[in-house]
Amino acid sequence: MRSPDLVADVAGVLVSEEQIRARVAELGAQISADYAGRELTLVSVLKGSLPFMADLMRAITIPVSIDLMEVSSYGGTATESSGLVRILKDLSSSIDGRDVMIVEDIIDTGLTLNYLIRYLRGKNPRSLHICTLLDKPARRLVDIPIDYLGFTIPDQFVIGYGLDYGEHYRNLPFIGVLKPEVYAAP
Ligand code: PRP
Repeated sequence: MRSPDLVADVAGVLVSEEQIRARVAELGAQISADYAGRELTLVSVLKGSLPFMADLMRAITIPVSIDLMEVSSYGGTATESSGLVRILKDLSSSIDGRDVMIVEDIIDTGLTLNYLIRYLRGKNPRSLHICTLLDKPARRLVDIPIDYLGFTIPDQFVIGYGLDYGEHYRNLPFIGVLKPEVYAAP
């Protein structure tokens, strides 16, 4: 059961605010150098990637455009994705001929991104790369080419900095591990 105090449901901090800040700055600098002289379209996948997108775009020094997509996997549960992806919000602008980077909070099974990569490739971008804050390789079902990675994490239920359980905990400023009793069946 959830506590009214978000922090009380956290078993431990996996990635601190300071670690996130430092790594996002590094990623922004790396992306800015790699794309020097070009323009980049950042496509954020709502809702989990919202804080990462907001911080990453401000760490990038080349011109960027942003677009937002929202997808949901259906047929799964609160903790497991099914691989069936529904687009709740599509791109607002064409990416035809543009350099595009998908900005994700976490790659778990890889099923969401596997779908999105195929979907966005079909829109004829000049290039398409992947930036994710977190990678949980233990649960991967399909291979995903990650170009920019914040942190590799173990197979634990993580929340915070955009990541939710039952839509809660997204506003925690760090990545934490959720206490098992919060999501365990009663
Ligand atoms: C999370 C995350 C990724 C996806 C990763 O989104 O933001 O999009 O799951 O899981 P996968 O690799 O197993 O496909 P979620 O569906 O929880 O939506 P949210 O971002 O709105 O929380």
